[in-house]
Amino acid sequence: MDAPAATLPGQDAAHPDGQYGSTAKWFHWITVGLMAIALPTGFVIKFITGEADGAYKMGFYAIHESAGLTILLVAIARILWKLRNPPPPHPATLPAPMRIAATATHHGLYAMLIIQPVMGFLATNAWGFPMQGRTAYLGFIDLPKFMEASVGFAGVLSWIHTIGGYLLVLLLAAHIGAAIFHHALRRDGTLMRMI
Ligand code: HEM
Repeated sequence: MDAPAATLPGQDAAHPDGQYGSTAKWFHWITVGLMAIALPTGFVIKFITGEADGAYKMGFYAIHESAGLTILLVAIARILWKLRNPPPPHPATLPAPMRIAATATHHGLYAMLIIQPVMGFLATNAWGFPMQGRTAYLGFIDLPKFMEASVGFAGVLSWIHTIGGYLLVLLLAAHIGAAIFHHALRRDGTLMRMI
């Protein structure tokens, strides 16, 4: 016999308890871990100066670029997976303005998970420092050089990458702030759907 149609708020047949599935949770928390590496390393690199051989700074570049590129790969896999596996709907009790804000923030974050690493990756190529040698992907996978160095283009790409970094901080602040708001003030179980 078929399972009865789900009728409670925030539920559908694929998410009978209103929770995100385990694959969605893995994608989410792996992205959180990688972002916790990519974002701070990106911001501090420019403050690392004064080394004779630049080894320490190169290590930061390698970690930042590898974490960032992995975010891109995970984001592509996640979006392709999500197209075939829609998330649970918003709980019916969620007011319309909150639904709109949540959907806009989520779309913004997805867009930045693609745009930010692509801009960073193209910038490294345009500066003439492709992910090879000391900045190889994961420390040992040399990636091909995708373009000839072009200082003007590199400057534009780096500028977009910098703006993207600040935009991501804003989006993440809204996202994490909303999670805390739902959990601590509204107590509506939203945070627990992803845990
Ligand atoms: C989602 C992934 C990524 C995030 C969140 C991120 C974030 C950032 C941030 C916040 C900065 C500092 C910008 C500034 O203060 O001017 C930065 C710098 C930088 N990023 Fe990324 N980035 C990501 C991916 C990548 C990738 C994939 C690459 C290259 C393959 C890359 C290469 C760089 C480079 C070369 C810098 C300049 C560092 C410097 O010399 O100051 N990033 N990134």
